[in-house]
Amino acid sequence: MRVYDIIEAKKRRRELTDAEIGFFVKKVADGSATEGQIAAFCMAVLLNGMTKREAVSLTLAMADSGKKTPRPPADGIFADKHSTGGVSDSTTLVLVPVLASLGVKCAKYSGRGLGHTGGTLDKLESFRGLTTALSPQEFAGQAVKIGAVIAGQTEETVPADKRMYAVRDLTATVDSIPLIASSVMSKKLASFSDVILLDVKYGDGAFMRTASEAEKLASLMVGIGSAAGRKTCAAVTRMDSPLGDAIGCNAEVREAVGVLQGKISNDLSALSFYHCEKILEQAEGIAEEEAKRRVKEAVASGRALDKLAEMVGAQGGDPRDVYEAEKTLPLAKNERRIEAKKDGYLKISALALGRACLEMGGGREKAGAQIDHEAAILLGKRAGEFVRRGETLATLYYNDKEGDAYALAESAFSLSDKRIRLRPLVHSFTAGR
Ligand code: URA
Repeated sequence: MRVYDIIEAKKRRRELTDAEIGFFVKKVADGSATEGQIAAFCMAVLLNGMTKREAVSLTLAMADSGKKTPRPPADGIFADKHSTGGVSDSTTLVLVPVLASLGVKCAKYSGRGLGHTGGTLDKLESFRGLTTALSPQEFAGQAVKIGAVIAGQTEETVPADKRMYAVRDLTATVDSIPLIASSVMSKKLASFSDVILLDVKYGDGAFMRTASEAEKLASLMVGIGSAAGRKTCAAVTRMDSPLGDAIGCNAEVREAVGVLQGKISNDLSALSFYHCEKILEQAEGIAEEEAKRRVKEAVASGRALDKLAEMVGAQGGDPRDVYEAEKTLPLAKNERRIEAKKDGYLKISALALGRACLEMGGGREKAGAQIDHEAAILLGKRAGEFVRRGETLATLYYNDKEGDAYALAESAFSLSDKRIRLRPLVHSFTAGR
């Protein structure tokens, strides 16, 4: 068998066998397939697609390409959640402690922010002293002991995806549904969760621009998870305006704490609680109303917030910082306000605000770059609201880097004389068998 022939077959639209896919992935992981060959394979898949069987096969081979985190011998259900990325999306920081406080253990491998989208690991590292670099044993141990853990996958996890993603990023082959699905799901399957919820975003701040594309991706990922024996479900959700009212690491952690304290009610709290309810329904087989009641109780009792503090403490942070987030997670020293230039109904672009935060150092252009946790944008108004001339739309917080942030952020807002009909936050939900 040769890598060349596998590329040739995909180029000519022949369905690849499991053996061919396994061979290709092995050659990617051991470094013997060249970058040129990986690029050609990815472009052939992008142009010609894959059958569901091929996508399952690619995912399983990728998941097996490195070290997996084995399921610890513990009773109960382990849950995981993945978002395809957005702006002001700190649902994980709400969901993990809520579910853990309700007895569903959350073992979540997360990623770092790249481009205009934020990353959970960066946000969590806003807590002084907290580490997200845990060994698989520490990760599984914490999942069993306190039911809540969020960490980064190690270098040895799914090495085939690391090489393929780096090539895709340079060769305009990221936006292929089977390649995204296999990349995301291989990382989920390399860990041990029994229930997986996928939040597939669509809109101007997301990978998938339309709901129908997002549904295709959601359906393929649910199919892959189910074929691998995991209870998998997916929600297709709107990402054209920011989910919460804060953008930037410290600001988003403060907002997530506010949601856990029951002080904030917005799309972030609504979507976080929705995901919690769906995972509870899948994990415990309970009805929607009962799931809603339990989630409400977890927040109202303060148990969810206490669980976040316990998790922060277990990962080397100071649990007291959670209760004093406003003090311990400062915003940058310089402030600039954006105000409405006329009356009207407000439209907000998530993409432009994500880019503005990136410009202030609050995000990273290249993997591995440092970020400024204090850079932030706080929204004064929400998408769809009617605003009056002179009212504050947003405030920018920056330290030494402002760059084009102000102009970019200003371009994110437009005001219309006509009422704006927001699309529903959750477009659709699919659960596998
Ligand atoms: N996120 C991933 O992990 N992989 C992709 O291919 C796209 C987004």
